[in-house]
Amino acid sequence: MAGELSPIDKAKFVAAKRAVDFVEDGMKVGLGTGSTAAWMVRCLGELVRDHGLRISGVPTSSRTADLARQVGIKIISLDEAKWLDLTIDGADEFDRDLNLIKGGGGALLQEKIVATASDQMIVIADVAKEVAQLGAFPLPVEVIPFGWQTTKALIEETLGSMDVLGHGTTLRMNGDRPFVTDEANYIVDLHLHRIGNARQLSLVLNQIPGVVENGLFIDICDTVVIGHGDGRVQVRDASSGAVEETRIEFAASDNLFADLGE
Ligand code: 5RP
Repeated sequence: MAGELSPIDKAKFVAAKRAVDFVEDGMKVGLGTGSTAAWMVRCLGELVRDHGLRISGVPTSSRTADLARQVGIKIISLDEAKWLDLTIDGADEFDRDLNLIKGGGGALLQEKIVATASDQMIVIADVAKEVAQLGAFPLPVEVIPFGWQTTKALIEETLGSMDVLGHGTTLRMNGDRPFVTDEANYIVDLHLHRIGNARQLSLVLNQIPGVVENGLFIDICDTVVIGHGDGRVQVRDASSGAVEETRIEFAASDNLFADLGE
C-alpha cells in the first residue's frame, strides 16, 4: 500500500500517475524501462482494464513487454506501429534543457529508437534526478561483444580529448559475467563525473567502431514530469519553459502498489 512506500517510490509513482493523463484513446505509446516506467505501465494497465482506454504499447525492453502484457496492455512492435504518438520513460539524470542520461537499466538502445520515433517524449522522474550538469551518473555506452576490449580502449582514448572530468570506464557485469542487453550487446559505463559538452560527446562516441549507441538523449525529451515524495508533481515543458504544479493523493486501496516487479 502507498503508506508503505518509501518517499522515492512515492515520487516515482506520482510522476507516473500524472504522466498517464497525457495518454489519449487510440494512441500508440512507447513504454519505457526501469522502476519509474514500471509504475507508468501499471497506471496505464489500470486505465485499460478499469476505464476502457484503448492503446497500443511499444515496449522498450523484454522486461517492460512482460509487465505490459501482465497488466493487459496490447503490445505491438515498432515496425507495426511505425510512428508513435507519445513515449513515456524514466531517466537517470536530466538537466535544465531536458537533456538526459539514460541506460541505467541497460535498455538505452531500444529506448532511444522508440523515443526518437515519437511525436512527443515525456520523462518521468523523482526530483533527485535533476542535475545542473550531466555526468555524475555513469554514462552507459552499448557496444557489440566482438572486440569489446578494443572498443573500450578506443572510447578511453577518445575521452582524453573531450570536455569531461573523469576518464574511467567499466564493463557492466551481471554477477561474474558481462551484462547482456536485449540486443545481445554489452554495456561500458563511463565515469565522467561532469560532461561539459554532451552534444559533442554523443556524436563522437557514436563514431567509434563497435559502439552501437550511447545513453545521452539530446533534444529528444519534450516534457519532464517530476515527482516529490509528498505527492507534489511538476510538469516542465522544454520549449516554453512553463511549469505546472499539482498534487496527487495516494489512495490506500490502490492495488497498483502490490508486488511491483522491479
Ligand atoms: C533504463 C533507463 C531508466 O529509465 C533509467 O535507468 C531510470 O530508471 P529508474 O526509473 O529505475 O530510476 O534508462 O535503461
